[in-house]
Amino acid sequence: MNNNAEQNQPQATFSHMENGSPEDWQCIAEAFGPFAQQLPQRITEHLKMLDGDFGGFPVDRLTHCLQSATLAHKAGKDEEYVVCALLHDIGDTLGSYNHADVAAVLLEPFVSEANHWMIKHHAIFQGYYFFHHLGMERDQYKQFEGHPHYERTLEFVREFDAPAFDAEAEVLPLSFFEPMIQRVFAQPKKSLYKEAVKKFEANQTEKETA
Ligand SMILES: [Fe+2]
Ligand SMILES: [Fe+2]
Repeated sequence: MNNNAEQNQPQATFSHMENGSPEDWQCIAEAFGPFAQQLPQRITEHLKMLDGDFGGFPVDRLTHCLQSATLAHKAGKDEEYVVCALLHDIGDTLGSYNHADVAAVLLEPFVSEANHWMIKHHAIFQGYYFFHHLGMERDQYKQFEGHPHYERTLEFVREFDAPAFDAEAEVLPLSFFEPMIQRVFAQPKKSLYKEAVKKFEANQTEKETA
């Protein structure tokens, strides 16, 4: 038995989307709101999966993420930037070959284009510090010279990513950043579903006040 059935929540009845009715989609839309509201908790839980995962590094991946966010916070970066720093390696679990893309995709609806670009490209910029040790070209990031977010991304890897492997450094706990995750992930700035969600919420408010 699935969760919805267990909790007696209404469910759509189609077996092919082609046959979905307005009532079916009302069920789905009603379930979406509470599920979407729990996104910050799911993000936090996924971050916790990085705990104890060293991958050969001097600190585990959660500590690295926390240290990156701590450095950004202490440098006076705004909340959205700090959350980007916190999540920049969240993709290490599933995106073994494209971890920066995973973080960027999660953040994209909620952050500025500049922050999204910075996180998406941090892996190639960070390569300056180690690609040459692995027989790779360390200057690959230079292909982006002149890009509007080039300097921002350089600064991110230099100030908040590359130095965040210090096992002795002070690291703020995940609980410190949780309210920031809540706020940044509260509402998407852009999403394929944004208009539909807005209309649905307006309809619900109308029904409640009628
Ligand atoms: Fe990374
Ligand atoms: Fe990193």
